Amino acid sequence: MSIRSQFLFNTELEKEIYHKTVEFGQEHVFQFWGQLNEEEKRHLLNQLKNVNFQLMKDLADKWILTTPKPEVFSEIKPIEVIPLKEDTHPEEKNAYQCGEEILRQNKVALLLVAGGQGTRLGFDGPKGTYPIGPITKKSLFQYHAEKIINIQNRYNCILPWYIMVSEGNEKTTLSFFKKHNYFGLNPENVYFAVQPMVPCLNEQGKFMLDSTYSIAMNPNGHGGTIPTVVEKNILKDTRNRGIEILSYFQVDNWAIKVADPRFIGYHILNQAEMSSKIIRKNSLREPVGVHCLCDGVYRVIEYSELDIYPQLLETDSEGNMKFFAGNPAMHIISLDFVEKVYHQLHHFPWHKAFKKIPYINEQGELIKPDKPNGYKFETFIFDALRFTNHPPVAVEIQRQGEYTPIKQFDGDNSVISARKSMTQFWGNWLKNAGYHIDESLIQTDNFYIEISPLFSLTEKEFLEKQKNYKWQITEMGIAIEKDGTIIKKA
Ligand code: UD1
Repeated sequence: MSIRSQFLFNTELEKEIYHKTVEFGQEHVFQFWGQLNEEEKRHLLNQLKNVNFQLMKDLADKWILTTPKPEVFSEIKPIEVIPLKEDTHPEEKNAYQCGEEILRQNKVALLLVAGGQGTRLGFDGPKGTYPIGPITKKSLFQYHAEKIINIQNRYNCILPWYIMVSEGNEKTTLSFFKKHNYFGLNPENVYFAVQPMVPCLNEQGKFMLDSTYSIAMNPNGHGGTIPTVVEKNILKDTRNRGIEILSYFQVDNWAIKVADPRFIGYHILNQAEMSSKIIRKNSLREPVGVHCLCDGVYRVIEYSELDIYPQLLETDSEGNMKFFAGNPAMHIISLDFVEKVYHQLHHFPWHKAFKKIPYINEQGELIKPDKPNGYKFETFIFDALRFTNHPPVAVEIQRQGEYTPIKQFDGDNSVISARKSMTQFWGNWLKNAGYHIDESLIQTDNFYIEISPLFSLTEKEFLEKQKNYKWQITEMGIAIEKDGTIIKKA
């Protein structure tokens, strides 16, 4: 029996979906149609209904069916960066005060991208639920939430928190927030939005089935933020609340300064559309994107492309990196700019990754390939920078206390190194408050320090508050909670 004769159209929409699938040469996705129950048929049709077939064809033509050539630039130049300065420097003070004022006026919302899983950590769950606190076992989400509460109290403002999740982790993320009572935040100010999915393509540019009734799909990358904000009511909600800018961050960095007044201030004072924080790369091949100007256009070139653009590895006569501006993935994005980019989304670049994608064979059996067999396509938020009219603002930051991402369990940028960085960061606060901490203990695997952002967000706040307390630091370390009490061990 042909696929066509098995296909019973219940509605005009189903007919339309079927014809479109055939028109774009993807009708093989219906090969098990005759064996599917009603629910399974609905699932497959729903997936197909949301597919942009023309886009997938274009991606296959450009990236799979022809040999893609990397973009060629005649000139790549470093960007201009606002360097680190003393807090007392007039420009810094001005930016900070401006940011504080914007926060007080309730013009800032937070946008967290949390669509990924904790797979690289060997953790079966959304990354944000990872228990990063070495003593308290607090999750990344809880650390972010506690910082938000501190800022809200400090500036007497509301920071609506928009969290982009993916189909794969939406349910678990939501139930985690519910289980933890939104970590003390008002649920009315926390909003989850599911990012769009795109089909994976095999080496012939065809959709892949991962069950008899579903095509293999992946989240569309953190560039999916732009359509998610506009299409999933975030834009409407923010406009209703009088918000003007979004403070964008990634879930994997416990040290993030959420809604940092300094950063907000520089963005506003420079009338920027989109701004970025910059870390000075610690080595030429550190796995971070590089901010640069390619033929005059602001770009971030991913670390995986360094060999395509070897200029980015050049050093000056003293051995200093010419392109030091690493990407910690922190941005301020004006809402007007989100709308502007959304209207040009068809020009937004896509990136491909050749991956191992589980699929079913002709017999409907699931095969887990041991080498890459198909392509995933994603968009990246930093590609929005090339759509700016005003020069984007790039502000240098120090790593400590701002950037400690968790990409794996051990090694660089790991759970282990993040926990040690907490101990060093908060250990300095305690030392500056007059506590003695044995340096050799800091290096051990059993000694940790945690200070709840509900107790203090900054060293200044800590030094002031700690005067009312006298803590004992044991050989296990110390975890100071909201009210100055000590947590023994979770
Ligand atoms: C990323 C940046 C890199 C930067 C580094 C800093 C990319 C392509 N590169 O690398 O330039 O220097 O972080 O730490 O992002 N996410 C979604 N939906 C998706 C895909 C990802 O929400 O579809 C979220 C993840 O949950 C995570 C973040 O985006 O919070 C970054 O993804 P990740 O895969 O960790 O990026 P990196 O390769 O580490």
